[in-house]
Amino acid sequence: MNTIITGLQWGDEGKGKIVDYLTETADVVIRGQGGNNAGHTVITGGTKYVLHLLPSGIIWDSKINVIGNGVVVDPVGLVTEIERIEGQGISITPDKLLISDRAHVVLPCHKELDAAREAALGEQKIGTTKRGIGPTYADKINRCGLRMADLLNREFACAQITRRVAEANEVLAKFDLTLFDADQVIDEVYTAFERLRPHITNTIPVLHEAWKSGKTLLFEGAQGTLLDIDFGTYPFVTSSNTTAGGSCTGTGLPPTAIDAVVGVCKAYTTRVGSGPFPTGDEGLSDYLHGLGREFGATTGRPRGCGWLDTVLLRFACMVNGVTGLAVTNVDGLDAYETLQICTAYDIDGTLHTLPLADRSAWDRAVPVYESLPGWKCDTTACTSYEQLPERAKSYLARLAELCGAPIAFVGVGPDRIQTLVAPQA
Ligand code: IMP
Repeated sequence: MNTIITGLQWGDEGKGKIVDYLTETADVVIRGQGGNNAGHTVITGGTKYVLHLLPSGIIWDSKINVIGNGVVVDPVGLVTEIERIEGQGISITPDKLLISDRAHVVLPCHKELDAAREAALGEQKIGTTKRGIGPTYADKINRCGLRMADLLNREFACAQITRRVAEANEVLAKFDLTLFDADQVIDEVYTAFERLRPHITNTIPVLHEAWKSGKTLLFEGAQGTLLDIDFGTYPFVTSSNTTAGGSCTGTGLPPTAIDAVVGVCKAYTTRVGSGPFPTGDEGLSDYLHGLGREFGATTGRPRGCGWLDTVLLRFACMVNGVTGLAVTNVDGLDAYETLQICTAYDIDGTLHTLPLADRSAWDRAVPVYESLPGWKCDTTACTSYEQLPERAKSYLARLAELCGAPIAFVGVGPDRIQTLVAPQA
C-alpha cells in the first residue's frame, strides 16, 4: 500500500506525526517538494525531533529516506540538520538517506534575494520563511537553476555559481544589502556538498525498484494545499505543488504507484505568513497561544488560529483525492464550550461552498458558521477512537460529512501513542 500524506490547510497540520505513525509499516519515506521551509515535529519516547528537509522516517533505524527531485535543497542547511539529528543519537548513513541528483540547490544568495523581495513588497509581503525557496524554484522554471548533479562537475558548477552570485549582487545592490563573494559561496556550498556527496544518487530507479518489488512507499508532503502554487490562496502561497500530484512529479513515481491519499488537517485552522484567513479568530488564537500551542517549528512565529473551515477542506479533499482524513490537535479544543464550523462563505449575498480564484473575493468572504457543543473533557489520555467523548465523535463525523471524506486517524496529542485509528466506515 503506497500512501501520500498531504496537508489540507496552510501547513503545520501535524503531518510529521501522521507520517511517523505510518512509517512503522513503510519501507521507504519520500519527500517530493518544498525545502527547509517545512518544519515537521516528531515526538517519540519523550524525545522531540524537528525536521526540515529530512524525511520523518530518518528517526527509525530500518527505513530508507529519499529527498526527491522536486525538493529544493540548501546544502548548508541540510548538513546542519543532519548534524543536529545525529547529535540526538540518530545515525544518518548513505544507505539510509538518498538525495536525488536532480534536486535543485538553494544558494546563500537565494535566501538573501527572498528577503530582499519581501522587503520590497512591504505591506504586500508574502511572509515567506526566507529560506530562498521562491528564488530557487524561479531559477528552476527559468531553466537557469543548479542541480545536485551539477555540483559533481566542479568546474561547471563554479562557473554557474559565479554567474548567479553576480546576478544576485546586482539586485541586492539596489537594496543596499551586503553583496556576496562568489569564492566564499563556492567554499561554503562545497564544504557542505562533501558531506552530502555519498548520499547523492539517481533516486528514480531506486524508487521504481522498491515499488516493483512490493515495498511500501510513504510520500511525505510538506506545507499544505492552501499554500500550493496552483490551488492555494495565490499569491500568498509557496512555490511548489504541495498537493498529491506533487508527490509524483517530485519523485518520478507515477500516479499508478499510489494506492491511498491521507489528508491531514487540524480540528481547527492555523496559518502563518500573510494572506487571507476568513475564519481567523483572535479569541481562539489567544486561547491556543495561552496553552503554549501554535508556535512555528521553523521560525517560532505564533500562528494565527481560527475555526475549522470546511469550504477550504472540501476543496482540498477534491484536489488531493483524499481517501482518509487525519484530524490532529483535537485535544486543542478540549476545554472549549461551543465550537464553530464554517460551512460556506457568503460573498455579496451568494453562498459559496468552494473557494473562488478571484483574489478580491477573499476580503468580502463572510464565513457562515454552524455551532456544535464542545466536549469539555480531556482527550489526551484516550488510547482508542472509541474512548473519545461522544461530542468529539459528532464533531469529527460532521467534519467528514462536510468534506466528503472519511476519518482515518485522530490526533489527541503530540506523542506517537496519541494517534487513534478510526473504525473503517
Ligand atoms: P516560502 O515557502 O518560504 O516561500 O513561504 C511562502 C508561504 O508559505 C509563507 O506564507 C510561509 O509562511 C508559508 N510556509 C512555507 N512553509 C511552511 C510550512 O512548513 N508551514 C506553514 N507555512 C509554510
